[in-house]
Amino acid sequence: MDYQAICAMLEEHGQSHLLKYYDELTEEQKQSLLEQIADIDWKLLDLVHSHKSTEESRGHLEPLGALEVDEIEKRREEFEAIGIQALKEQKVGAVLLAGGQGTRLGFDKPKGMFNVGVTRTLYIFECLIHNLMDVVKRVDTWVPLYIMTSEKNHEDTTRFFEEQNYFGYNKEYVHFFKQRMAPSVDYNGKLLMEAKDRLSLSPNGNGGWYSSLRRSGLTEDMKKKGVEWLTVFAVDNVLQRINDPAYVGAVIQSGCDCGGKVVRKAAPDERVGVLCLEDKKPSIVEYYEMTDDMIHLRDEKGNLLYNFGVILNYMFKVDCLEAIVNKDMPVHIVEKKIPYINEAGELVKPEKPNGYKFEELVLDMIHLMDSCLPYEVVREKEFAPIKNSTGVDSVESARKLLIENGVEI
Ligand code: UTP
Repeated sequence: MDYQAICAMLEEHGQSHLLKYYDELTEEQKQSLLEQIADIDWKLLDLVHSHKSTEESRGHLEPLGALEVDEIEKRREEFEAIGIQALKEQKVGAVLLAGGQGTRLGFDKPKGMFNVGVTRTLYIFECLIHNLMDVVKRVDTWVPLYIMTSEKNHEDTTRFFEEQNYFGYNKEYVHFFKQRMAPSVDYNGKLLMEAKDRLSLSPNGNGGWYSSLRRSGLTEDMKKKGVEWLTVFAVDNVLQRINDPAYVGAVIQSGCDCGGKVVRKAAPDERVGVLCLEDKKPSIVEYYEMTDDMIHLRDEKGNLLYNFGVILNYMFKVDCLEAIVNKDMPVHIVEKKIPYINEAGELVKPEKPNGYKFEELVLDMIHLMDSCLPYEVVREKEFAPIKNSTGVDSVESARKLLIENGVEI
């Protein structure tokens, strides 16, 4: 698209400010800016004007129980045998979602580079690799590990893993891939710029991980290795067990398309997404989408029926991921702190949210599957997310939980 066409398009969308500094740019910068503008998905911006995301209204919701800890303990041997076999055959890979910006933590490097140690250095990435190594040692086989980064943190992340010698992991089994970026807007729907020649682009959410993995060509590596399942997990839960044989075995044994680790809710109104059925298919209902009745619904034994919150650790059958790869996912509009250049052309790093980003979320993939096994884990042993620096789900709370679990920090 040439300059004239871009001008006309911007005018039509009320976004002509993007070319305010055009005349000051070098030829190369001009070209790059025009390309970024030509790439804008205008449908996203319409969502801001209509003040809604593309999420449809919810279908018929019903509770979905879980494979509970008691039952898992009774059948542990059976599940582990299946899991160990699959892991030994390298049928189960792992995908670390590390493309987010972790704005709530306020750490200006990739979140995984954060040091949670107190008396020694202990990086978040290090915790996760050590947790995965427990499985590697147990089954005496490497787990293929794919790490999703974004344009914003790819260099830092890959350099860090090199510097740290992959924390002892076999680097031949570690592959990085980048996720896609999406534009950001202010509260009036005006596109933000982070430099005179650059739009404020941010990672487009964790929901596009499989299509990004595919685009990177790494699915070929997977095929070569015979990977049939992928577990996908967040960077910030330093206690999570990754590909533990009982989980892997239980999901395979269930015959479901996918599984998800869940924890029992701490209180009926806890702010977590809950695994349930929506129009007979698995789905995750957010706490704010639940009615009071649903929140307090109990069975005859007095147990809450919507009782199991997700912790962003899912396991998917690769064939089922292939089957949904071209399906549209809902786009969520999320308020965030977005660095931008102001009227005077100076870069501003806002202290509080100043606009919207557009994200697809991995939890929406669950509803595209036909069946899902919710697999209960003990919260105090497997859930220590680091979202904030203090308070709930913070560095403070995660440190406490690490110590309680015998991790030297
Ligand atoms: P969060 O929902 O915590 O988002 O991500 P975030 O962007 O990292 O953090 P805040 O909200 O700005 O503080 C949950 C997981 O999904 C990954 C994150 O890295 C984390 O592991 N993620 C999130 C991506 O990989 N890409 C994204 O675009 C967003």
